[in-house]
Amino acid sequence: MSKPLTFTIFGSTGDLTYRKLLPALYQLQTRDLLPDDLAVRCIGRRNLTTEAYLETAKPWLVKGSRFPFVESVYERFAKHITYVEMSLTDAADFKVLAQTETERDYLYYFAVAPEFFETIAQNLKSSGALNQGQHRIILEKPFGIDETHARHLNQVLSGIFKEENIYRIDHYLGKEMIQNILTIRFANRLFEGIWNKDYIQEIQITASETIGIENRGSYYEQAGAIQDMVQNHLLQLLSYVLMDQPDDFSPEAVQSRQVELLKKIRPAHLILGQYGENGDLKAYREEAKVAKDSQTETYVSLHLEVDDPRFKGVPIFLRTGKRLDQRATYISVIFKPTKGSLFNDLHPQREMLIIKIQPDEGVYFRFNAKKPGIAHQVSTVMMNFCQSCIYENRINTPEAYERLLNDAFIQDRTLFTNWEMVDLTWSFASQLAQFQIDHQVNLEFYSSESKGPESADRYLDAFDSAWIPADITEEVFTL
Ligand code: BG6
Repeated sequence: MSKPLTFTIFGSTGDLTYRKLLPALYQLQTRDLLPDDLAVRCIGRRNLTTEAYLETAKPWLVKGSRFPFVESVYERFAKHITYVEMSLTDAADFKVLAQTETERDYLYYFAVAPEFFETIAQNLKSSGALNQGQHRIILEKPFGIDETHARHLNQVLSGIFKEENIYRIDHYLGKEMIQNILTIRFANRLFEGIWNKDYIQEIQITASETIGIENRGSYYEQAGAIQDMVQNHLLQLLSYVLMDQPDDFSPEAVQSRQVELLKKIRPAHLILGQYGENGDLKAYREEAKVAKDSQTETYVSLHLEVDDPRFKGVPIFLRTGKRLDQRATYISVIFKPTKGSLFNDLHPQREMLIIKIQPDEGVYFRFNAKKPGIAHQVSTVMMNFCQSCIYENRINTPEAYERLLNDAFIQDRTLFTNWEMVDLTWSFASQLAQFQIDHQVNLEFYSSESKGPESADRYLDAFDSAWIPADITEEVFTL
């Protein structure tokens, strides 16, 4: 039997806690997954009572809940929460947390900037808070501010906590369709049999957002889209799409295949953009806590090559951006024309597999078929599996943070990343920074609600390609 848990959130008045962590806890309450003896301590610098804190949090729960908000569920949820005012940098304040008991387990969520990780861990240790009971930590991304800092941080943290007690979160791993990628690939001969350069023309991975940076100017100025999205979420996605089959589905086996793959990717072309032309009131440079001459990228389009016989020469395109015209995350795998096919002269659409991650979830396969009628026409048709169209699936699909918090509570580390992965993604970020210098990649500006910099479209022209939209359309060709 596991012991009762005390869950402590550092950074409890921040965006992440209000937008994601508290709604996730509330969902778990709705699903009766929060044990009655769970204590949640929300740490913040502001002078607030627990009642005042909950009052601020409540609208976020209403807004962020995938189930209708129910007052009686909220009352049960609120009983777990205590707001604790303290400074993260003042070691003396940590005495409040030092009243630990052997018969409880402790889990700390570092929902703060990485500059504070070391101080919090050291203060927890020196205050005696870690002396009794079992202590685990969840680290929000980014893990460090650069490669050197990340390595230093890892050394410090692993001197205080055992690796098995460190949970590095990448919330994309908690998304249902991302977990589905390996099943779609390895449970279907049809796909796995053709998952190589002989059949695949190109792969595109898109994570397009309509929101801007919201209230996170100071964080974003330091991170930019490369560190915020590419280095973690998109590389996770990419490695699931391209890695070899693992020996089993244990986290160790899966992550070792991911690591193998990530060691083989090389940047071939990079386009960086920033939203807002001059004078645009919604421009990135007009956001709070952003420099008026900021060079931070809010858009990335990256062409990658994989140094592996299986995918040699297959271009992999990643793109992500803020304030674009659409919210959609999806993977498009475009197949080559069939050698010697009688239909090739007609240039029918290429077959394509699209795995939709969000907001719609599903798998779409586009192929060519004869259009019914006397005229000999070929039309592109679609097989659609819309997972999220089924009510029961929607209800059974937890939000990423809901899933991951529950996993951490029950000590399941399957969907958390290990240090080797994190280290490798930092090396890749450094490689990109160097590539940017070597190839003099300049920032391009794009209008809000657009598709991003036009040069990203032009670049794909050279590959006789274009960005695949999230909703592909059907077309007819006459023989
Ligand atoms: C976060 C980034 O990790 O992921 C945000 O810091 C981004 O900038 C968010 O908006 C996207 O997550 P999701 O789940 O909305 O795709």
